[in-house]
Amino acid sequence: GKVLLAYSGGLDTSCILAWLIDEGYEVMAYIADVGQEEDFEAAREKALKVGASKVFVEDLKEEFVKELIFPAIQANAIYESVYLLGTSLARPVIARKQIEIAAREGCQFVSHGCTGKGNDQVRFELAYYALKPDIQVIAPWRLPVFFERFAGRKDLLAFAAEKGIPVFQTAAKPWSTDENLFHISYEAGILEDPNVTPPKDMWKLTVDPEDAPNTPERITITFDKGIPVKVVNHNDGTEVTEPVALFTYLNTVARRNGIGRIDIVESRFIGVKSRGCYETPGGTILRNAHKDLEGLTLDGQMRALRDTNITAPYSKALYNGLYFSPECEFLNQSIAFTQRNVTGDVKVKLYKGNTVIEGRIARGDGAKLYDMQESSMDEQGGYNPQDADGFIKIHSIRLKKFTPANQ
Ligand code: ARG
Ligand code: SIN
Repeated sequence: GKVLLAYSGGLDTSCILAWLIDEGYEVMAYIADVGQEEDFEAAREKALKVGASKVFVEDLKEEFVKELIFPAIQANAIYESVYLLGTSLARPVIARKQIEIAAREGCQFVSHGCTGKGNDQVRFELAYYALKPDIQVIAPWRLPVFFERFAGRKDLLAFAAEKGIPVFQTAAKPWSTDENLFHISYEAGILEDPNVTPPKDMWKLTVDPEDAPNTPERITITFDKGIPVKVVNHNDGTEVTEPVALFTYLNTVARRNGIGRIDIVESRFIGVKSRGCYETPGGTILRNAHKDLEGLTLDGQMRALRDTNITAPYSKALYNGLYFSPECEFLNQSIAFTQRNVTGDVKVKLYKGNTVIEGRIARGDGAKLYDMQESSMDEQGGYNPQDADGFIKIHSIRLKKFTPANQ
């Protein structure tokens, strides 16, 4: 049979590639470019050297930004109040292209290098089955013939040596990472002790906020229906508009100002707790700016309803690998609907790890909500203050019949 393996160029997936060939499969390698820092041509050469019959390197950055990152920003997506879902967001585009290639190349099987304890196995496989119900999945890290043979890293290294697989990293980093345009994650190894502080040199996508410039940088982000369409840097006049370039630029300014680091213990879908550190530089600026503009442009009741009924279930569906599901499709449609008045500019100061909002303006229908005269404490206007008498009296009816439990 033919297998399309999601290949990273690392030790694990290289050994899986060689092992699948030993098991009698024809193996094709699929490398997804979701913006991670990687030598894709070196990975292609390596896959061919290990024995892949074909290698596909696919640039998925644009669809990742437009279809996953921007809707996540529109929805203010967040998991357990802290994690911005960087790995979860990339999985749907990676899995979708893998299934597309598998179908085109006549592969009955797809394979990946996820462990049997994580979220990613669930995300990949639920996406595979949703998109191609007859696909067969080979998950080596869940097969006793594989995980018993490769019980430790030294077994993988011995197998790599036997198969002539080049191992680039001289000393493996004492944690594992997953990187894309939106974020990088650090998990496992020394980070498994939740009380171990990550070493300063672990962080890769941002400078330490303590080392960031003493002079703030000021930008304006323009949103159109909740989607960022322009960034202007007031320090040097830079202006960007194209989605991937805009997002990459925000990563650049966030990086030098130390923005987007987090360190949490999260609840995996599988039920186990896991400690993770993440850097989401541009995504952190965008999320904060977007939330701010919603303050000005979204109706309060609608916003509250959205927070509980869209933001929360959407974030959970993404985390749990249910992007290709009826509920997520419904939520996706709803997100766009909620954003139709979220248009305007947000002024942001970037300073030593912080995104400080310095002002905002709304354009279009969203501008009708905030009325300076109506909101002013110094001026009469908007409505008759005597109307508030009745409002308060009516709301007090049931409260007057209530005795607080501890009185
Ligand atoms: N805990 C994060 C998540 O579930 C990050 C997972 C990182 N994945 C990886 N293959 N290293 O989204
Ligand atoms: C893995 O287990 O393969 C990585 C971590 C995760 O998927 O949660």
